[in-house]
Amino acid sequence: MNNRRVVRLDKKYVMHTYSRIPIAMERGEGVRIWDSDGKEYLDFISGIGVNAVGHCHPEIVKAVESQLKRLLHCSNLYHINPQTKLAEALCEVSFADKVFFSNSGAEANEAAIKLARRFGSKLGGRRYEIITMKGSFHGRTLATLKATAQTKYQNGFGPFLPGFKYAPFNDLKGVKKAISSKTCAVMLEPIQGEGGINVASETFLRELRQFCHKEEILLILDEVQCGLGRTGKMFAYQHYGIEPDVMTLAKPLGGGMPIGATLAKEKVASAFEPGTHASTFGGNPLACSAALAFLKVVRKENLVEKARERGNYFRVGLEELKKKYSFIKAMRGKGLMIGLELGFPGKDIVNRCRDRGLLINCTMEKILRFLPPLIIEERDIDEAVKILDTVFSRL
Ligand SMILES: Cc1ncc(COP(=O)(O)O)c(C=O)c1O
Repeated sequence: MNNRRVVRLDKKYVMHTYSRIPIAMERGEGVRIWDSDGKEYLDFISGIGVNAVGHCHPEIVKAVESQLKRLLHCSNLYHINPQTKLAEALCEVSFADKVFFSNSGAEANEAAIKLARRFGSKLGGRRYEIITMKGSFHGRTLATLKATAQTKYQNGFGPFLPGFKYAPFNDLKGVKKAISSKTCAVMLEPIQGEGGINVASETFLRELRQFCHKEEILLILDEVQCGLGRTGKMFAYQHYGIEPDVMTLAKPLGGGMPIGATLAKEKVASAFEPGTHASTFGGNPLACSAALAFLKVVRKENLVEKARERGNYFRVGLEELKKKYSFIKAMRGKGLMIGLELGFPGKDIVNRCRDRGLLINCTMEKILRFLPPLIIEERDIDEAVKILDTVFSRL
């Protein structure tokens, strides 16, 4: 099927929750992806951070193929070998002692919210309130939608689950003001992705950590978009010299397979007892085998260091563009999670880049967002910067 036919069928049969670009992707390899008409693109958005090891990495394909032939699904009534190994691997590279597996970022956050409430219910006085940050994005289920402090996603879906309060990002005084005797957790992204690549300041996150310790409030970090190497550290919290109590992961974890994970310290994790939370597909053998392969590739190909180095290289190119074009107001981010703030909406730029074979995206209307695969080479970055320069010069 060519692009046009897929688009026609989609219009007819698929619910219109996405304002989709009228092309259908067909095949991917490394940093490149091809649409159904055979047009090639350099992928600098990588499935909004999912394809961090590139498209169809041979190690991921091999792991999935081999697991497919052994065991495709198994209920969580039983132990699942790759799930156990993945939990061990994630605990070894992070602050965590225990992991709960689900299938997406929103589900990982749902589990974190439930865990925090359950933990809070065991502390003296019933504690269930969670403070989240303005501009945050935590998912589209009803609880994570309420945790997401942006009304544009919430319109028409109320009434919502009570127990969420919003505070300004990077403002400890604001967080303290929102805290009450009912607060069980503060939840935030160390770098807000959908909110426009807003980086938590060192003082804010460090002082927030201390404050949460003192008040026995859990610190939940949503690293669904910024975690697993993207920022030039395995986890974004490692830039701050702190550790959270709970962290959520998803997007790149399965190398393209759907998986979510909620990681926690033992003290917190023990609030979940048998029967308190579950997921039919969570931690299934296929997704976990892919995730084990993902972690192996990240280690073997030094992708965390590479994200840092390539991120710096990309930033130099973008800085040059910023000097050249006054409509670029600011550059933000860490590693290979970068945003360019424009003086006007960026949709037209995204479309023009795509016409020239470069996939990027725009968030909060004016922020061009770059989330290239961590495997990109300097020549790919040169190519992307050149396309951006051409597009900018013709606006
Ligand atoms: C920080 C963050 N948390 C949660 C989510 C939700 O993840 P999912 O779409 O897999 O449910 C996203 C998705 O963009 C995200 O960026």
